[in-house]
This record gives sequence, structure tokens and C-alpha cells, in this order.
Amino acid sequence: MDIRSRLIINGGKRIEGEIAVQGSKNSALPLLSAAVLVHGECVFHNCPRLTDVDAACRILTRIGCKCQRSGDTVTVDAQHISENEIPESLMRRMRGSMIFLGSILGRTGRCRLSFPGGCEIGSRPIDLHLSALRQMGAVITEEHGYLDCETPTGLHGAKITLSFSSVGATENILLAAVLANGTTEIHNAAREPEIVDLAECLNKFGAKISGAGESTIYVEGVSKLEPSEHTVIPDRIVAGTYMCAAAITRGELILTHCEPSQMNGFIPVLEQMGVRVYAYGGGKIYLNSRKKLVAPSTVRTMPYPGFPTDVQAPFTALCSTAEGTSVFVETIFENRFRHVSELMRLGASVKLEGRVCVIEGVKKLSGAKLCASELRGGAALVVAALAADGITEISGVNYIERGYESIENELRSVGADIKKIQAI
Ligand code: EPZ
Repeated sequence: MDIRSRLIINGGKRIEGEIAVQGSKNSALPLLSAAVLVHGECVFHNCPRLTDVDAACRILTRIGCKCQRSGDTVTVDAQHISENEIPESLMRRMRGSMIFLGSILGRTGRCRLSFPGGCEIGSRPIDLHLSALRQMGAVITEEHGYLDCETPTGLHGAKITLSFSSVGATENILLAAVLANGTTEIHNAAREPEIVDLAECLNKFGAKISGAGESTIYVEGVSKLEPSEHTVIPDRIVAGTYMCAAAITRGELILTHCEPSQMNGFIPVLEQMGVRVYAYGGGKIYLNSRKKLVAPSTVRTMPYPGFPTDVQAPFTALCSTAEGTSVFVETIFENRFRHVSELMRLGASVKLEGRVCVIEGVKKLSGAKLCASELRGGAALVVAALAADGITEISGVNYIERGYESIENELRSVGADIKKIQAI
């Protein structure tokens, strides 16, 4: 992870061309965790080259798995698990490491990990994860910044109702339930495509999961899982980000290797703004944004299938030059407008009131020095810089590289004047 590199963008160039969308970061991470449950070698295709995926592979190696990458394929051999502790250094590198709790507990009956703590976008509590695992028989003590989890009588099925349809909690419950004794029901489960992808992969391994993608998921515990192969679904958030990049430059873009049906939470917002979007079969989308853009009606982030919180930041960048007043309500995370102050350095006109962001569209943005401080907010700065007059320099590229595979090469390939330089 190179924390000194910067992106240099000379704005005003129209995006025109074709991008093949990478595999989903938020699917790859739970899938890599699922491999821990299998005595043998699992193969994951379309695994994106990201620092977060590298961090997950470091955790797998740390607990005794053999993990190797060949192109877009990552192979994980979890025949021998020698360790069930995730040290603070690895937990701090990626708070999403929490997703290993369910699988390590399901495989070994024990797990000790440093408290994941919050991050730039919010406190990121894990109470729903812990209360669900306790209902399944886990004994969890929290002290000195560590979670110590044991299952003295093994994990057993339970009827769990989530007070919020947490993605991570749903995933951890699935990972813990597939080898548990008896049946687990998850009510008010998250419905994201990444949940469906994880369930489909686990069922390939021999699990018995039904209802994934709906609000109630049933898991019938089995005694053993068998190795298999799986292809990671496309990254709908990266696809949405590149659609914003094309739209803000009034460009044209074809996205391939994506799944339009997973983007019904935000494509209508683009269409409302005056962007023309055509979904073809075979995982292809065509976007044309020749016309003037107008502000959409109020956008509220919601759990799937609503407007995804992860594309909120790139959309606020897009709306900064749309005619009229745009209103965004961030209902998922408490601190997800950190990028707004940087957008204002480009000349955006934005007012924040708690979880509400009000944007008055301006005719022009002008280049400036910006600093990314988290993943999706950093991507939003790139989107805005593409439309800004002159040069924009963005530091904190390491945040963006957590979730976007070589964003500068992808955007340069469709006409952007963008390069990455090492800080001197
Ligand atoms: C996943 O995070 C994603 N990360 C996030 O993407 C995404 O924004 C989020 O789901 C919502 O879609 C990965 O998949 C690795 P949650 P997760 O549990 O699982 C509250 C990105 O940019 N909550 O659905 O942590 C929590 O505070 C990242 O790629 C509890 O209160 O999301 C938040 O308000 C950012 N208690 C809300 O639920 C809990 O125990 C959503 O959290 C768990 C969550």
C-alpha cells in the first residue's frame, strides 16, 4: 500500500469508451473468509486486485492457509488451520477483517481478534454480529481491546432477528451457521447481491442455504464442506462510480462484465438527471450523457435494493455540476460526507446538516489540491476532478486503491487525462 502516491488529473476531457468492470470487493472478502470452512483447495475467479483483498489473503496465510494469486484467480488451501487469532496489525489494516470471525469460529471453535473499531465513515459497531453468535452458542468476552470467542458446546442453530439488516452481520451468521448443529433462521437479513453470491458459493461447497436475497434466510447445518470453484460477481459500486465519471464529463461509456439488474437502486437516479442508460443482455450497459444534467429528487441511501450508501459520494460529485438543488440523506453511516469539504475546494456549493447534504449545482469546477480520507469519498474526488477546469492533485490514493483496481489506467483508457505519481 503506497501511502505517498498522488493522482494528477487534468479535467475537462470527455469519457468515451469501454470499461470491463472488476470483481466485487464486497463479495470477494466474505468469499475468501468462506474458504476457511473447507478442508481443501478452493478457487475464486474474477477476484479484484485490491489492497483489501491482499489484506484478506494475509489473514488467511496468518492462520495457516496457503493463498496464492494467478491473474484474476485466487486459490486458497485451508487444509491445515494452525492459528485462530487475528492480530491487531492485520485487523487495523482492514476493519472488514471482522468477516473472518464467523468462519474461524465455525471451523475451529475458537477465535481471538482485536476489536475492529471504527473507521473514517462511522463507529461501525459489531453488536449485531456478537449477539447473533452468542445466540448460536458462542461465549464472547471483550477486554483489553480484544474479542475472545469460544464455543464450549459447539455452535448450534438459532432463530435470529436482526434489528438492522446488517450486511456484515448477515454474512458472519451464514459463515457460522453452515457447519453448526441444526437449523438457523436469519430474519431481517441483508438482501445485497454479495449475500446471494456468498450463499451460492457456500452451497457449491455443500452447505444447505435457502432464501438468500430475501429478508429471511434458512441454513441447515451440515457436517463437512467440500472444495469447489466460484466466480466473484461484478462490482456494482465500481460500475456506478464509472457511470458518474462518464456522466459528469457529458461522455459516453460502455460497461461490460457487469450486472445491470443489481443497479436498479441508482440507475433511475441517473435517468432522472437526464443521463440515458441502456442495459443490454450479456452484462453490458451503455450510458450517454450529452445533455445538460439536472438535479434528481431527494436521494436517500437505503439497504439493498434501495440507493446504495457506497455510491452516495460519487453521486454527490456528479450533482455538484447538475442544474438545480440536489438533496442527499445518508441513512446508513453517521459520517459519510467527509469528502464534501474537498469538493468545495473545487468550487462545489454544498451545505451539510447532520446526515443531510444540500448541493447547489454550479456551472464549473476548477482544479485544486485535494486529500482523500476514505475509499468512496476518494473516488468522488476523482469523479469531480474529471470535470474540473485545470489540474487537480489528489493525495491519499491508498484509500482509493482499497476498492478500485488501477482507477487511473481504467479512466485513462476511456479518455481521461490522469496519471499516478510517486510523491517526491
Ligand atoms: C458492508 O459494510 C460493506 N463492506 C460496506 O462497504 C457497505 O457500505 C455496507 O455493507 C452497507 O451496504 C463490506 O462488505 C466489506 P452494515 P458493513 O453492517 O457490513 C450498523 C465500502 O465502501 N451496524 O450493513 O460494515 C452500522 O453502524 C464499504 O465498500 C450496527 O449498528 O455494513 C451501519 O450504520 C463501506 N451494528 C449500518 O448498520 C452491527 O453489528 C450498516 O452496517 C453492524 C452494523
